[in-house]
Amino acid sequence: MHILVTGGAGYIGSHVVKQLLEDTDNTVTILDNLSTGHDETIKSLEDIFTDNKRGNRSFNFIQADLADFVNIDKIFSENDFDALIHFAASIVVPESVENPLKYYMNNTVNTTNIINMCVKHGVAKMIFSSTAAVYGDAKEIPVKETTAKAPINPYGWSKLMSEQVITDTCNAHDNFDAVILRYFNVAGADTQNRIGQSFPNATHLIKVAAQTALGSRDKMSLFGEDYETKDGTCERDYIHVDDLASAHLKALVYLEKEDKVSPDIFNVGYGHGFSVAEVINTMKEVSGVDFQVDKEPRRMGDPAILISDNSKTKKVLHWEPKFDDIKLICQTALAWEKSIS
Ligand code: UFG
Repeated sequence: MHILVTGGAGYIGSHVVKQLLEDTDNTVTILDNLSTGHDETIKSLEDIFTDNKRGNRSFNFIQADLADFVNIDKIFSENDFDALIHFAASIVVPESVENPLKYYMNNTVNTTNIINMCVKHGVAKMIFSSTAAVYGDAKEIPVKETTAKAPINPYGWSKLMSEQVITDTCNAHDNFDAVILRYFNVAGADTQNRIGQSFPNATHLIKVAAQTALGSRDKMSLFGEDYETKDGTCERDYIHVDDLASAHLKALVYLEKEDKVSPDIFNVGYGHGFSVAEVINTMKEVSGVDFQVDKEPRRMGDPAILISDNSKTKKVLHWEPKFDDIKLICQTALAWEKSIS
């Protein structure tokens, strides 16, 4: 297959491309505007492609912006894509509250356009990056795919609206099928340290803790100790980026099946969680640095607990995580942070 990966120079996209190049025979084209993705990541992926040369497949990178509809149409006309894996999106929750239109334009509008391109140019398969943020303050834990969706910020809404566009398009067009993956808290990096999370001004717990352990921050904040959880701090389902990536490869296989549901939706997490305090202690342990942590009030919009029910993903996609180990997640995040700092 020839697979188009939007946002393939970014954190999760690059790990999926790495696995496509290492573990499949597919041709891959990355489309990325490099707004948060990186040239360096493309170079690392080119090396991985060279190390895994087989058949006459190719690996291509196109620098383009999804908002440039005319150019996107041209790119679809010039290529014979079989499948789309669509990562390119804005992902910072507080920013989405301040600048919702950026999220509705970049996420919902651009996703709608690229689905339109798939239908127009006969690209029959799509995998969409969605998020646990569609559940908002989840009505049940662990969260099932059928749990009520009630986003509490524009980021979550922009993704849920995109899901609706996908659903309606699948229902209306027999030759368009999709899988929607709802990600939980993605962290860690390639175990060979070739690619990782390079997003500047990161706000995510494990990345912030790694930066603090390495001294690129003087200290970090722990937001809220008065939640109804095991130790009063929020609990999340942290998943290693390579396990999340492998769910995409499983979804591609699923999309080839005759007896699939389309669109089908899957939670991608480990099904158990760690508290913020536990994660910080793990980072202190693996780094050997007792860094400063300031206790702060609750951060706006944080649900107390967000943990996936992944039983459908395991059963239907035959997905088996390999890196369900919070120490390994912290170690790989730390190693990557060291290599870029
Ligand atoms: N936290 C701190 N200090 C920090 C950073 C985070 O205490 O410096 C806490 C947060 O308050 C929260 C927990 O760590 O309780 C996790 O926060 P993250 O920012 O790492 O991640 P979120 O759970 O807020 O959100 C992430 C993604 C969302 C996705 C969600 C799914 O950013 O897009 O996971 O669970 F929807």
